[in-house]
Amino acid sequence: MEKGPPRLSDLKIVASRPSDLSKAWARYYDRLAARFVEQIDRRRFNVILEAGCGKGQLTIPLLRRLPRNVKMIAIDSSKGPYAGWLKELSQKLQTARLEKRVQPIKSDARRIRGIEDESVDIVVSNELLCDLPYDSQLEKALTEFYRILRPGGLMIHGEWSSSPAAEPQAFLVKHWPSWTPDQLFSIMRKNGFHDFRVTYFETTIHFGYENALEELQTWGATEKFLRHNDEMLKREGIELPYEHIVQCEK
Ligand SMILES: C[S@@+](CC[C@H](N)C(=O)[O-])C[C@H]1O[C@@H](n2cnc3c(N)ncnc32)[C@H](O)[C@@H]1O
Repeated sequence: MEKGPPRLSDLKIVASRPSDLSKAWARYYDRLAARFVEQIDRRRFNVILEAGCGKGQLTIPLLRRLPRNVKMIAIDSSKGPYAGWLKELSQKLQTARLEKRVQPIKSDARRIRGIEDESVDIVVSNELLCDLPYDSQLEKALTEFYRILRPGGLMIHGEWSSSPAAEPQAFLVKHWPSWTPDQLFSIMRKNGFHDFRVTYFETTIHFGYENALEELQTWGATEKFLRHNDEMLKREGIELPYEHIVQCEK
């Protein structure tokens, strides 16, 4: 049967109540993992490295969709607001009985420890580049990705787009402004990558009032900000921005 374009209702995951939240995030990341696998297409690969894997939000659904013979290396610096996240990943992997398929490494993406030159087929990340907001930080990470990738290897990076999914929320997210695809194109090209492509992941989550408050707090919103926007949040909730996904080759 021919697959038509997705309906708008399929692209919006709704988390109205607190009890909807974890399921909504799981659906979101499962769809995102499906998109990453689609981008990999029919390439042959044995080793994939995820940089900034966090607590495995993408790692686990991605692993479930990858062939069993693929080895994943998951690196994260796991410090500051993210302290303990890598440990959480290890626990989740055990529970899901996936621990044999992943090697978690505590390491900064700007100086990747224990990974040899040209030993990785694919590097992926999600919401990592926004944590490397200066040219020099991003360039250091790109130099490392270039070093560990084999010639012809692929990189795929997803990031919340700097345009909101719904007005008037452009100002809400601490992560903004993220890198634009144009900026990424020029900096990745300068660092030796080619065949640059950008696509958009159109799935978003609509958070009802209580979930919106919780999400905004984790994104760094102040009490003053929350009080000031309380009426709007009650009326409209908030919507996660879309992601851009950039892809290029060594
Ligand atoms: C916003 S979280 C994203 C987590 C997960 N990838 C996701 O999609 O939800 C950013 C993650 O990148 C990690 N990170 C930030 N800067 C890093 C760096 N320089 N090297 C390695 N990991 C880093 C953080 O520790 C955190 O786990």
